[in-house]
Amino acid sequence: MKKITVSAPGKLMLFGEHAVVYGRPCIVTAVNQRMHATVELIDQPIFQLNAPDVQIKNYKKPMSDLGNGEIPKGAKFVEIAVGNFGVRKGGLSITTKSEFSSQFGFGSSSASTVCVIKALSELSGKKLSNRQIFDLSYKTILDVQGKGSGFDIAAAIYGGTLYFLTGGKVIKPLKITSLPIIVGYSGIKVDTITIVNEVLKKAGKYPKVIDRVYNNIERLVEQAKKSILNKDWQSVGELMNFNEGLLAVLGVEGKKLADMIYAARDAGAYGAKLSGAGMGDCMIALAPPSKVSSVKKAIEKAGGQVINIRANVEGVRIES
Ligand code: MEV
Repeated sequence: MKKITVSAPGKLMLFGEHAVVYGRPCIVTAVNQRMHATVELIDQPIFQLNAPDVQIKNYKKPMSDLGNGEIPKGAKFVEIAVGNFGVRKGGLSITTKSEFSSQFGFGSSSASTVCVIKALSELSGKKLSNRQIFDLSYKTILDVQGKGSGFDIAAAIYGGTLYFLTGGKVIKPLKITSLPIIVGYSGIKVDTITIVNEVLKKAGKYPKVIDRVYNNIERLVEQAKKSILNKDWQSVGELMNFNEGLLAVLGVEGKKLADMIYAARDAGAYGAKLSGAGMGDCMIALAPPSKVSSVKKAIEKAGGQVINIRANVEGVRIES
């Protein structure tokens, strides 16, 4: 086998963002918009990458130079992932293609990292376990951006809906068959690490206050886990509202997201919150079936774009 195509899902954070960077749990779900990577073994010792979604066209370098020199932003995760895997002979030609925009905050970098490690694991005959794929992918994320809980990597590998603890200390699938969330995209692209660092600055200035916020987020994540397993969507929505309040305390709510969230609530949602780092990317809402269409309209009226997704889908898989 010289060539393989692998796909991995994007993700949406349901509960616990930010606190999960500091040893608290979160809940994440995988969504049915996928990243695809085709990886081919070639004879020449060259690394070649095409990733048109992130403006990488025919990027090439010797395999011996992996990780060295100026690496374009869109190539970083894949290049470092290949370096971390360690390819002993020949080279690689890699093409990635996403079903979702890299602007949504669905985790395109993590999903492409996971795809490449999984593809190399198959092509090399090493057949790494999911845990080994997680560890190598998480190392790649930390090598590139220095921080991050790894929840997005776990969603891309395992799929479904996961209860997750920082660094993958716990990765526990929540056995549910569906998750009827509504998703609105704010149109604002955010840099996760910048926002994580702003929160960190606040925690440095008000350590006791922020630590308590994280503890309260932890409590509501535990409660949300139970409510999700019981399919008690009304309680899950109400807990989303609590979580949003605590994210507002951290200063990551953002005016545009807040408008969309309040519009969703006013239109009859059980609850709504931002999903991810905050300030931009997406918000999520849960609503009774009779209100779904008015909630979607309200989100659009507030300037958001509704993205129709299915949550709780399959993790990384071989396509061909
Ligand atoms: C960003 O999508 C979620 C954060 O919790 C960062 C992370 O968990 O890596 C803010």
